[in-house]
Amino acid sequence: MNSKQLLEQAHHAKEKAFAPYSKFKVGAALLGKSGKVYLGCNVENASYGATICAERVAVVKAISEGEKEFSSIAIVSSSGDFTYPCGMCRQVMSEFGLNLNMIFSNGSEIKEGTVGEFLPNSFYLV
Ligand code: THU
Repeated sequence: MNSKQLLEQAHHAKEKAFAPYSKFKVGAALLGKSGKVYLGCNVENASYGATICAERVAVVKAISEGEKEFSSIAIVSSSGDFTYPCGMCRQVMSEFGLNLNMIFSNGSEIKEGTVGEFLPNSFYLV
């Protein structure tokens, strides 16, 4: 699965977003080391703080299916611009490896970077 294919999957996931409040749809496609792809979209709630981001939905789906090692995650949004994960999602992804490669696109260009690069000096318990 290459970057473009994973981005395509993220676009499919984005279409499932439940975002009636922000109207900002996000899609994530998380590639497990097994080769399986876990899709996530943002799921908003009338109690705004209960909203779950697309990235965390994908991670929670994967972990609950027994997959714990990941190679990359593609993230896209309805903005059409590069969409980078929020701080909470960076923290959650860091739990499963700072080497996780993140793939972003604005429709014409692709950017990539690891969770470790996006979350330097991250918090962890020894
Ligand atoms: N959102 C994500 O799904 N991922 C992020 O990393 C940032 C924000 C969602 C949450 C909310 O539904 C909408 O984008 C606007 O904040």
